Amino acid sequence: MRLEKLHLVNFKNYADVEVHLEGTIHCFLGKNGSGKTNLLEAIHYLSFTKGSFYSNDLANVRQGQDQFFINGLFEKNGKRLEVVCSFSQEEKKKVMENGKEYNRFSEHIGKYPLVLVAPNDIEVIWDGGEVRRKLFDTLLAQVDKVYLENLILYQAHLRQRNSLLKMLAERGSVDRDLIDSYDEKLVSSGNILYQKRLDFVQQYLPFVTSRYNFLVKGLTEIIDIQYESDLKKNDFKKELDLKLDRDMALGRTTVGVHRDDFLFTLNGYELKRYGSQGQQKSFLIALKLAEFDYLAVKNGSKPLILLDDIFDKLDDERIHQLMELITDGAFGQIFITDARPGRSLEVLKEAGVKSQNFSVEEGSLAELF
Ligand SMILES: Nc1ncnc2c1ncn2[C@@H]1O[C@H](COP(=O)(O)OP(=O)(O)O)[C@@H](O)[C@H]1O
Ligand SMILES: [Mg+2]
Repeated sequence: MRLEKLHLVNFKNYADVEVHLEGTIHCFLGKNGSGKTNLLEAIHYLSFTKGSFYSNDLANVRQGQDQFFINGLFEKNGKRLEVVCSFSQEEKKKVMENGKEYNRFSEHIGKYPLVLVAPNDIEVIWDGGEVRRKLFDTLLAQVDKVYLENLILYQAHLRQRNSLLKMLAERGSVDRDLIDSYDEKLVSSGNILYQKRLDFVQQYLPFVTSRYNFLVKGLTEIIDIQYESDLKKNDFKKELDLKLDRDMALGRTTVGVHRDDFLFTLNGYELKRYGSQGQQKSFLIALKLAEFDYLAVKNGSKPLILLDDIFDKLDDERIHQLMELITDGAFGQIFITDARPGRSLEVLKEAGVKSQNFSVEEGSLAELF
């Protein structure tokens, strides 16, 4: 799969730009604040129908304008496909493929697989469970429609149940039948997510292990991902019943798959607490490369890779390893951003990689030759 052309109108700091993409590696080089990440964000929209940070579409409309428009021309399995994503306050968001508008965005997700490596990704190791759930949800959503649909349902049912708890608490009454009927819906989607996450970790771990072993060459470190869930301990409905008093008092649901976590370990020890910085970084890259491998296998086409400012975050050794991988041609199309043009061009040149380079300046692009 390749993105051949990208056309942006009034998206973030771009008034109207068209980029023709040639080759497989594209570098966007320019000062901080020039609009490099914004370009990647636009590509992210084409894959996920939303940005990577928060889903605030309005904030992405260029200041002073009222509509943005992102157009991507893809080549996939010999076919040309045009994806358009537009947003205006009046008409809301629209996503189209070859002129046909989607009724539900979930139908689109997964068709154009993508792996984003962002500057703050180390949070996946350091922060709380929410970041790890988001990482794996994003991945699973691209390969499993049933997962995505149940994730959307679960989130909606959870919000409804929480509102119900608050309402009942205010009234000072408990309506068990009503709670049971809400629970039934939550349990149904929750159990599906639980089972799928359980299976996913089993399938995903070998990909991570193999990437990690490559990165730490020769060292014998055993990595593991342990799935932690309230549902492992007890039947979901039973847990909800047990915690009902507490949930009523707090006005929110304190058990369920929205509290799941994934524990990363190295030789049996928690990576977050006991891993060295180097081990944590290698693990993070392994996770990301495994994302690529997993999507490629499940999806049948190579995902796009967006590497946002990674040269800033990685040390020489890991940059070198990454370049080694990039040059061996296993990846598809790669987009790289860097605020220090000299550095990435040097690294790519040393690795013997040919790239298409653009200079980015305040929302305008110029190809460098
Ligand atoms: N809706 C918007 N309208 C106009 N400019 C925007 C909008 N959203 C972000 N920007 C501008 O985009 C720039 C940041 O772009 P970004 O791609 O993050 O830069 P970088 O090159 O550092 O990655 C900032 O100057 C910001 O003001
Ligand atoms: Mg940036």
